[in-house]
Amino acid sequence: MCGIFAAINKQSVTRHLIKGLQNLSYRGYDSAGIAIVDHSGLQRRRAEGKIERLIHCLETKPLEGRVGIAHTRWATHGAASQRNAHPHMTSRVAVAHNGIIENSHQLRTELESRGFHFESDTDSETIPQLITFYLNLGLEHDQALRSALERLEGSFAIAAVFDDLPDCIFAARRGSPLALGYANGGHFLASDINALKSVADQACHLEDGDLARISLLHIAITDQHNKRVDRPRQVICEQQSNSDRDKQGFRHYMLKEIHQQAGVIKRTLGNYLPGADNTIDFPLLPFNLAELQRLNIVGCGTSHYAAMIAKYWLEGFAGLAVEVDIASEYRYRDGPVCASTPSLFISQSGETADTLAALRHAKQCAQHCISIVNVVDSSIARESHVILPTMAGAEIGVASTKAFTAQLTVLFLFSLKAAVSRGRINQTEKKRLQSQLTLLPSIIDNFLNSEHRILAIAQKLQNIEHMLYLGRGIALPLALEGALKLKEITYIHAEAYPAGELKHGPIALVDASMPVLVVAPPGRLFAKSLSNLREVSSRGAKVILVSDQQGIDEAQDYIDAAIAIPTIEPLLQPFIYTLALQLLAYHCAVLKGTDIDQPRNLAKSVTVE
Ligand code: M6R
Repeated sequence: MCGIFAAINKQSVTRHLIKGLQNLSYRGYDSAGIAIVDHSGLQRRRAEGKIERLIHCLETKPLEGRVGIAHTRWATHGAASQRNAHPHMTSRVAVAHNGIIENSHQLRTELESRGFHFESDTDSETIPQLITFYLNLGLEHDQALRSALERLEGSFAIAAVFDDLPDCIFAARRGSPLALGYANGGHFLASDINALKSVADQACHLEDGDLARISLLHIAITDQHNKRVDRPRQVICEQQSNSDRDKQGFRHYMLKEIHQQAGVIKRTLGNYLPGADNTIDFPLLPFNLAELQRLNIVGCGTSHYAAMIAKYWLEGFAGLAVEVDIASEYRYRDGPVCASTPSLFISQSGETADTLAALRHAKQCAQHCISIVNVVDSSIARESHVILPTMAGAEIGVASTKAFTAQLTVLFLFSLKAAVSRGRINQTEKKRLQSQLTLLPSIIDNFLNSEHRILAIAQKLQNIEHMLYLGRGIALPLALEGALKLKEITYIHAEAYPAGELKHGPIALVDASMPVLVVAPPGRLFAKSLSNLREVSSRGAKVILVSDQQGIDEAQDYIDAAIAIPTIEPLLQPFIYTLALQLLAYHCAVLKGTDIDQPRNLAKSVTVE
């Protein structure tokens, strides 16, 4: 996680650094800092908390200069405090670091035994200290930097400035992304190419092992073998519309993004169903869907729950065996990876460290890798054989909402295509399902008109400490996702269980102080969920049922509250049920007064493992 931004310009770069950090705050917002170098040496300002605190600090103690580096932090080693904020520096060099230095403890012990004094608890401070050690031995700047980087284990992206080199910035990466931006007045560096779009017109990605020396007029890149290289530049332009960046009258980005879902589904459908002939227009896939024996789907968090939903679709109506994995487990499990089984990776950001590592592992095992991503120039997108983009637009709230329904849209189309290729459904059924899909945006908009009913339920829940979510079949990943939303933004402890597992343990938790939310769409599993609902109700739990009106009527005697979902095509239920759970979490969070768009301890993009 964490964000790096750096700039070298003819005028002062301070405002660029701040703007860059604001664009990167989705990567962490525990503390922030900048360091400037000029002919009088290195100076820095740091502040604990969000970037506004750094801005305030700069108002009271201004810092201007033409060369600078900046960082927004998500704490891994050491508390979120000013002392641990980046850039870290010695008298000779200042460094902003993303990633984790896994051998920092050993390096620190070694350096301390040589008389080096550390001022923070971070792994990152090892880097400027180590560079200083090599500078003290008499090495040139780039040699000292390279020697230090060679000693580091783990992943990193860094920006560094030296006290006696006021005209240049160094950048290096291994495992964490970094991009260079080229503009008329100067050069820029950012850990996300999107953060360069407001200042640069061209950009290139650094590759692992690259070291770049950036001056006002020139950028020199050397690769891991210390050979001069050029990295292909691409034209970049501001793609984010103003509508992505402002709240458009909504109180929070999350609420705006919940309300954008009808439009997002429409746009995503438009991308894959461009013609009037109902053909699903996917890029050429590197495997034949008709002959596929098995598919792996891998993701983290909400993207993992999207994968779980797709498993029900792909197995249930496309007859394709699917194995769903959490990326952090998949990458280390040492399970047999079959080259003839393709893998599908799902990620909103396209930068999630575990998902990226899982993709690299699958590629090494010669698997075909496709991915569903929202950020099309992200690392996962660039490293996949084929991408299926979602058209959610920038998702700013840390809790994923519209990206999830956009992922579901692509996954449903993928399942439809697989079902037809495998002869599991005919063209008439495909056409019927597609037309049901196109009805979703208006169903969603209608549903959102009844938001006040969910607010009323949230009012009953605002003082609870725990909540249990139950679901069966396709409602299980919905329950998991609903519980994740609740814990992320309200900090209420929420657990989701397969309803059938209730009697195998979790029912011991149930009493009058444990509200239970049951996700039970109509269908063949409804009666079973109803039995579970009665079991928890008879143990005193307050029960909230999420079902259609008929289900609610049937359960009337056992429930304390209900969210009525319109009756729709059963395969498409996840799209609407998830909306109800997003809104419930959102309104509980508003009542609790939490920081909804940037909840504590979280970051939008999890770029370290
Ligand atoms: O960008 P990704 O989809 O790869 O992110 C995966 C998870 O970090 C993400 O879904 C996370 O769980 C969200 N905060 C959930 O709301």
